[in-house]
Amino acid sequence: MMSEFGSTLSGLQGEAYYPSAEVIAQANVPDPEALRKEARDNPEAYWAKRASELDWYAKWDKVLDDSNKPFYKWFVGGKTNIVANAIDRHVKSWRRNKLALIWEGEKGDVRTFSYHALAREVCKFSNVLKSMGVTKGDRVTIYMPRIPETVIAMLATAKIGAVHSVVYGGFSVEALHGRIEDSESKVIVTADGGHMNGKVVELKKIVDEALKRTAAPENVVVVKHIGNQINMEAGRDYWYHELMAMPIVRQQQRCETEVMDSEDPLYILYTSGTTGKPKAILHTHGGYQVGIYATFKDVFDIKEEDRWWCTADPGWVTGHSYIVYAPLIAGATSVMYEGAPTFPFPDRWWSIIEKYGVSIMYTTPTAIRGLMRFGAQWPNRHDLTSLRLLGSVGEPINPEAWRWFYKNIGKERCPIMDTWWQTETGMFMIAPMPAMGLKPGSGSRPLPGIEAEVVDEDGKPAKAGDEGFLVLKRPWPAMVRTVYKDPDRFVKTYWSKYPGLYLAGDSCRKDADGYFWIIGRVDDVIKVSGYRLGTAELESALVSHPAVAEAAVIGLPHEIKGVAIYAYAILKANVEANEALVDQLKQHVAHEVGPIAKPERIEFVASLPKTRSGKIMRRVLKSRALGMDEGDLTTLEE
Ligand code: WT7
Repeated sequence: MMSEFGSTLSGLQGEAYYPSAEVIAQANVPDPEALRKEARDNPEAYWAKRASELDWYAKWDKVLDDSNKPFYKWFVGGKTNIVANAIDRHVKSWRRNKLALIWEGEKGDVRTFSYHALAREVCKFSNVLKSMGVTKGDRVTIYMPRIPETVIAMLATAKIGAVHSVVYGGFSVEALHGRIEDSESKVIVTADGGHMNGKVVELKKIVDEALKRTAAPENVVVVKHIGNQINMEAGRDYWYHELMAMPIVRQQQRCETEVMDSEDPLYILYTSGTTGKPKAILHTHGGYQVGIYATFKDVFDIKEEDRWWCTADPGWVTGHSYIVYAPLIAGATSVMYEGAPTFPFPDRWWSIIEKYGVSIMYTTPTAIRGLMRFGAQWPNRHDLTSLRLLGSVGEPINPEAWRWFYKNIGKERCPIMDTWWQTETGMFMIAPMPAMGLKPGSGSRPLPGIEAEVVDEDGKPAKAGDEGFLVLKRPWPAMVRTVYKDPDRFVKTYWSKYPGLYLAGDSCRKDADGYFWIIGRVDDVIKVSGYRLGTAELESALVSHPAVAEAAVIGLPHEIKGVAIYAYAILKANVEANEALVDQLKQHVAHEVGPIAKPERIEFVASLPKTRSGKIMRRVLKSRALGMDEGDLTTLEE
């Protein structure tokens, strides 16, 4: 059956790449258009079918409850726990002896976990959390380097029905403090430190500093990873390895998985938005597991014998969905690497592919652009023939980086799955499947069951080729359920510009073949090297420095980072503007938010363009910096 756009295996307009007969023959979804049609004809039946591929303690009564829009509910009445699908069902099968995780530290140390071994560690840590009084619904903050214990802590929390809040280990004091406080976490799981690019990231020190600013959670669990000297506060801080060896934990190797309702919370994940206060995106057990599993299987075509490697950090949604949960639900073997791609040399990643026989690699445009700089001689030193599929996420991939990745890493054999999605969507939304034609720079088309559109200011579909707002027209199972503790913000941010449509916050174009081309954010979010930061968060970090009276932050194009942070600051009276202060302010932002948030440039100014109501017009700053027309200035005050 042909879709409204026909098959995408030939005749696409513009630069296009088609999969080989071999790729098509072995694809989990050999006919993407047929699946899209099936899902469009009866979306609920489609999602019910996908949900049936997983285990449920009790089947749902209703696939989708839309009686209280936009607070949609999925698989209502179903009883489940994502860990039952990620771990429990595999240890009951032959997969108990299959490798779930292959981990390599930056220093070269290797640890592996079979499903059986992972299950045991998870059970033990669940019992540790229970011994600390953590029960269903309690929050646990996880602030960790990229090590197996991060995965174990997430699964252990979910297993007992508690809610994890993972804070990316690259965030720093104020970002961590805000997230601990807002989540009211009972326990923090952290490590003495992590290795990154030959340096030590002193996570426990940052935790200590963050906890000075807030009412302390009851317990801090510390994984000994690098063995440095750290402060352990008696009665609050406990070593992970000592807790795991407690008689009560050792004697009781098992822990029952808590039976959850489909709509019970699984995790919150803070993400940046328009205000200085980051919002906690809430995901639940039932729909989320269905959405991430189905998309992982279809887009990355996962097979038993694959070795999957997602280079993200578990601290971002990419890590939650596609390092931890979806690969485990699919019974896959994942590779996880702790450190920097260029340590000690720019071929570290390529050596990992060769060493472990990685067959599918999922990474970011920023990383590709960064590695491209060092030249093809680095990948060329390694045997990359194990690869069969590649993936990209986080920001639009420029065609030049796409072609380099395709040619030098995939050797023109491996299709690139450019996946568009968000912390809020939980799962891939616009992405190709292997048996489709690809266009460099486009994530191709909405996946089966997903309806996306590009609309103009009035919410009407934009003409092919015209830029507009990207919206989602139908609810989907892994969708954000609310903003934790702030349902009004949920409605206002995503569902109020166009009634009934989810506003993604991206600007986009759809071409004549129905392929979507993401242009970039149209709100106050910036994506620096694919990392999501809010201009307001960065501005508040700047004004928290005693020298700064006011600040404005914008994102400007950058060759490697995609977008880089430019800050404008008005200094307090009698403060001298000099280069030393610029450096000091950059360090200050890095200390408060994290090294990724360090501004590329800080400029001192006497005034900032504002509306009459006092809102900074970042758009004007941006146009000025780019030397462009400043557009409509009728609301400008000065
Ligand atoms: C924003 C969401 C989704 C996992 C990591 C990011 C941008 C994401 C793509 C892509 C163009 C992309 C969008 C989106 N984005 N993937 N394939 N092509 N842009 O999650 O931090 O919530 O950021 O990242 O701007 O809205 P996130």
